[in-house]
Amino acid sequence: MIGDKKILYSGMQATGTLTLGNYLGALKNWVSLSGDEEECERFYGIMDLHSLTLRQNPSEFRKNARSLYALYVAAGLDPEKNCIYYQSHVSAHTELCWILDCFTYMGELNRMTQFKDKSAKHADNINAGLYTYPVLMAADILLYQTDLVPVGEDQKQHVEICRDIAVRFNNIYGDVFTIPEPYIRKEGARIMSLQEPDRKMSKSDENPNAAVMLLDDTDTIIRKFKRAVTDSGSEVRYDPAEKAGVSNLMDIYGAVCKKTRDEVEKEFDGKGYKDFKFAVGEAVANELAPLRQRYAELLADKSYLDLRIKENAEKARYFANKTLRKVQKKIGLTIL
Ligand code: TRP
Repeated sequence: MIGDKKILYSGMQATGTLTLGNYLGALKNWVSLSGDEEECERFYGIMDLHSLTLRQNPSEFRKNARSLYALYVAAGLDPEKNCIYYQSHVSAHTELCWILDCFTYMGELNRMTQFKDKSAKHADNINAGLYTYPVLMAADILLYQTDLVPVGEDQKQHVEICRDIAVRFNNIYGDVFTIPEPYIRKEGARIMSLQEPDRKMSKSDENPNAAVMLLDDTDTIIRKFKRAVTDSGSEVRYDPAEKAGVSNLMDIYGAVCKKTRDEVEKEFDGKGYKDFKFAVGEAVANELAPLRQRYAELLADKSYLDLRIKENAEKARYFANKTLRKVQKKIGLTIL
């Protein structure tokens, strides 16, 4: 808490463009949480240090980080009300990370499913950063005395290990860290590939029709939905086991139009897949068009983003350093 305000903390890695899945699973929820302006203090990180677990091309990396910043803002997060900042601008993250490394067991890290998945995928570069990735993420969250972490379903295990580390630390040193809760919305929590609906929608999918990118133009979006895989039936009915493709499209439509599954079923009662797929494509395209426009404006105005990036880095540093000092004192480091 800061004063009587709850603290929200989240972020994304600064790589490539975002998919519709990142948007519906996380970003859109962050924006919808902006409603309770007075009750919450919000921090959203551009997690550029986490991105280093994969080899990055320096100039593209720099561009991607800024692009992600602009996407957060274009999606509706006001950088004057939300502390949107670069993780690497606040050195307390890596400092606390080292300390927490010494309070994390290898057995715990060995169980992380994302580590297993990522090492299988990048067998030629299983680096130590990939392994301790969850500890840096715990440092991100704990530095701000976070109450709530709004993330997609896939990050739940990371928030859980963060809680375990914080509880362990508090048991030794007293109430140093707030214990955070994950906040996972049901709607849009897990958007699947449009081509293989039993797999998560991923920006690195080889099939270009599998994922809708946040910056895709209207024609591309409509075309991708037109080609989305469904099943041999004809009914728009929610049934993830039998009708994975249709159910995924229903989730997307429901998340964009803020409708329940029942409402979506009723709306398309008696209509075929073709009409349904067109309606989903159109809804998504209409949602993303203004975002794309705002994104272009933001990137064109260099000084506006530069100023926000700088101011928010200072704000984040202030809060993060407060927690770091407290930790250093508690464990017996000599404070200068
Ligand atoms: N691991 C998150 C992801 O890949 C990104 C992330 C890093 C994060 N630090 C965080 C999310 C802290 C929430 C809170 O999406």
